[in-house]
Amino acid sequence: MLFRVLAVGDVVGEAGLDTLHRHLRTLIRMNDVHFTVVNGENAAGVGLLPRQAEEIFDAGANVITLGNHTWDKQQIQDYLEDNSYILRPANYASSLPGRGLGIYEGPKGLRVAVLSLMGRLNLNPHLHSPFETADDLLANLEADVTLVDFHAEATSEKGALAWYLDGRVQAMWGTHTHIPTADAQVLPKGLGFISDLGMTGPKESVLGIAPQDSINLFLGGLPRRYQTASGPLKLDCVLFTIDTETGRCTEVSRCDICD
Ligand SMILES: [Fe+2]
Repeated sequence: MLFRVLAVGDVVGEAGLDTLHRHLRTLIRMNDVHFTVVNGENAAGVGLLPRQAEEIFDAGANVITLGNHTWDKQQIQDYLEDNSYILRPANYASSLPGRGLGIYEGPKGLRVAVLSLMGRLNLNPHLHSPFETADDLLANLEADVTLVDFHAEATSEKGALAWYLDGRVQAMWGTHTHIPTADAQVLPKGLGFISDLGMTGPKESVLGIAPQDSINLFLGGLPRRYQTASGPLKLDCVLFTIDTETGRCTEVSRCDICD
């Protein structure tokens, strides 16, 4: 079958949650999507609360992935232990709450693995290597389709991991920078890849936050709490079409929408 996966860029604040609620189910229906993964680590600005995770699931997500802001809201720790449909990066220390890999049931009994990983370059040098973590977790994985959210800052690290996993994984997308990239492609051994999905939230913003807050930072102003920007909203997402017979991604396409 042709298995269609929708990957949705980082949901920023209540505005991002609102955008998701208004548009995600329509996007799923219009594109005949079978499986949806949403990055939710900015639903509370930094981190997310269990209530916000529930809202993302209610909006249509099958799985939520996280990143460097996973631990910013302490209330999420028990939720990560209890709910196997939300993933924190697998290359955090194994002693931390939750998990970074899950296997879920897709259509027609398809075993769909989702792996959350995080980059080290210009982000968190204390993590285990995402390359070696992927090696370990993929070695004995029993899944028909494997999807990877690589939450990382550097496009170089994202590209390198994509080429490293080509032939072992059907789709890998980057998150974290909140900037949608124009490099959607299928690598030679069938891995569908894009460097960054973008974000879901305020369009007239700097990565989702009010421009004045970002300007203040770069002018050397006193630290202040970032506010989510107001104005029109957008939802950045990418559709991966995977041929489950060949194990290859056949198409990667952006399907962003804007209010
Ligand atoms: Fe992030």
